[in-house]
Amino acid sequence: MRRKPKGKMELLKNVSLFSACTTKELAKIASLVDEVEATPREVLAKEGTPGREFFVISRGTAKVSIRGKKIATLGPGTFFGEMALVDQGPRSATVVADGPMVLYVLDSRHFSSLLEQVPAIARKILKGIAQRLREAEKAPTY
Ligand code: CMP
Repeated sequence: MRRKPKGKMELLKNVSLFSACTTKELAKIASLVDEVEATPREVLAKEGTPGREFFVISRGTAKVSIRGKKIATLGPGTFFGEMALVDQGPRSATVVADGPMVLYVLDSRHFSSLLEQVPAIARKILKGIAQRLREAEKAPTY
């Protein structure tokens, strides 16, 4: 992953996860995130391995798979990598860039600061986890 220069409140506002944030919240988020680019087929999270980063997709899409089976495609405004940071367990799935991507990334310490300092985002992430749990329960088991 290549790091890009900072300075991104305008860009952050266009990411749906952050779109309802106030200017003050956006400034806080901008101070916590790094903007990175991913190359096609880059593995951003690997199932079963420790996870140290949380990602928000700005541009591009990524495929999520478990035990080699594709379970979801994530696009702009969505996030991944929250599970391993929340419970310090291994990555629950593998996430691979579908093509070129631009992402916002937070390490575990900055992720905790985000949850504490911007509760509206913490609620959206909780909601996302609940939705993924429901989808996983609906999915057939082979
Ligand atoms: P984590 O377990 O840290 O790393 C893999 C990520 O894939 C996981 O966090 C979620 O963000 C994401 N993920 C896991 N299961 C699903 C799912 N059913 N739908 C979408 N994303 C998922």
